[in-house]
Amino acid sequence: MSIQHTGSAITPLYSAEAIGNRVREMGREISRDYAESSLRSPLQLVVVLKGAFIFAADLARSITVPCTIDFIHASSYGSGKTSSGKVAIKHNLSVEGRHLLLVEDIIDTGLTMQQIKAELVALNPASLKICSLLDKPTARIHPVEIAYTGFVVPDTFLVGYGVDYDEKYRELPSIGVLNS
Ligand code: IMP
Ligand code: MG
Repeated sequence: MSIQHTGSAITPLYSAEAIGNRVREMGREISRDYAESSLRSPLQLVVVLKGAFIFAADLARSITVPCTIDFIHASSYGSGKTSSGKVAIKHNLSVEGRHLLLVEDIIDTGLTMQQIKAELVALNPASLKICSLLDKPTARIHPVEIAYTGFVVPDTFLVGYGVDYDEKYRELPSIGVLNS
């Protein structure tokens, strides 16, 4: 069954409830893993805007160890469904000696994460791991190691829960496939 939303059909994939359950599990796992290090230095969540903003807001509230929250802006998609092949990264972060967890919405070709990681590793954090709500492994061109994955998804175009198509559909509480 698909739902009509502003003229486009979206086939539901993950309900708000399924996403909520999974995000809480991820929060528990992250809290366990950083229990010790966060006593010395709070975990630094680095949220990749814009797509990860809703995921990060829910994830942060499921994390029970001390953490701080920062944002980095990355855009690789123009207004279409395929990557432009170039990533523009903007940030003003101080990460030296900190334990970083990059929070991303989707890892597709891997280009965005590979570039963000390289840029932040050069600033000498104590550690850096990646957390992505969605992983499309079959679309991967640039290898990335993901420490925490919400859902492994097929190579289709997804929207909702922060994830957009041409800035639309971010506000949907669930995730679905945008039919072309
Ligand atoms: P990558 O650089 O190819 O890994 O693409 C990363 C970014 O492209 C993701 O963080 C998303 O913001 C965007 N993206 C990739 N796949 C989708 C999708 O299915 N829907 C919406 N945005 C996507
Ligand atoms: Mg993104």
